[in-house]
Amino acid sequence: MAQSLSVRHLVGIKDLTESDINLILETAGQFKEVINRPIKKVPSLRDVTIANVFFENSTRTRLSFELAEKRLSADVVNFSASGSSVKKGETLLDTVNNILAMKVDMVVMRHSSPGAPHYLTKHIKANVVNAGDGTHEHPTQALLDSFSIREKLGDVAGKRIAIIGDITHSRVALSNIFCLQKQGADVMVCGPKTLIPKYIESLGVRVGHDVRAALAWCDVANVLRIQLERQQIKYFPSLREYSLYYGISRQMLDELDRPIVLMHPGPINRGVELTSDAADSPHSIILDQVENGVAVRMAVLYLLAQL
Ligand code: CP
Repeated sequence: MAQSLSVRHLVGIKDLTESDINLILETAGQFKEVINRPIKKVPSLRDVTIANVFFENSTRTRLSFELAEKRLSADVVNFSASGSSVKKGETLLDTVNNILAMKVDMVVMRHSSPGAPHYLTKHIKANVVNAGDGTHEHPTQALLDSFSIREKLGDVAGKRIAIIGDITHSRVALSNIFCLQKQGADVMVCGPKTLIPKYIESLGVRVGHDVRAALAWCDVANVLRIQLERQQIKYFPSLREYSLYYGISRQMLDELDRPIVLMHPGPINRGVELTSDAADSPHSIILDQVENGVAVRMAVLYLLAQL
């Protein structure tokens, strides 16, 4: 296994090698042990300053990065576009350069525009970590999803993973497809035709439209939220109808011939893509995903800081 990453920035899973992914997930395993000790902190990133720059809302990713940074003893500053000078017309690059002028070493950024973190890497010296760019990629989510699958099933290679829901508007879907395929998984996307991009088959995934068939096929169902905030037109008649055809209940999971693992990146629209009794059932590893996110982000930040 490689001892260092092949990239200076984590913009997308597309840029990572299988060896990079293995290194991040192995390192995350070590950090998971650390954060379960009574003293959860290590001095690995002492004297490193990290700015979390969020131009879009977040609960999990933002808190998880901040905790990961603090567990590594980094100095942390947080920036939200709301309440900042972005509202006065300041550009992305001016905003980030002003933050960097205060001697920041790494920038973790969420932005609604696909490609925004990639743009930053061309203009600044600090390491850039993509915390979600529009409908493009969410690399640390895919890494924590793979970590959670490995933890639950031992390996990702050879596993059948169904990604179910709004694929078109999801950055989690694309990052997961790249991450899972690089590790040798068999990936299906499932949802209404209007929520699956036409190009998706060219990525080598199976495409399905029957959620019961997808559940019967897979070892893991990673269920995605309907991203109403990104939908400018109606892609299906109503949430009630979506739930009727694509919603997953505990009963559907209990009736399968063999147990499967249920995942969701959050936030969940309870009663739409998942009923509460499914989300909170023993099939679900949704809160394990959240727990693992801290260890995975510690690994990413630690490894990038070595370059
Ligand atoms: N999974 C995820 O990205 O959640 P947040 O939008 O709350 O960060």
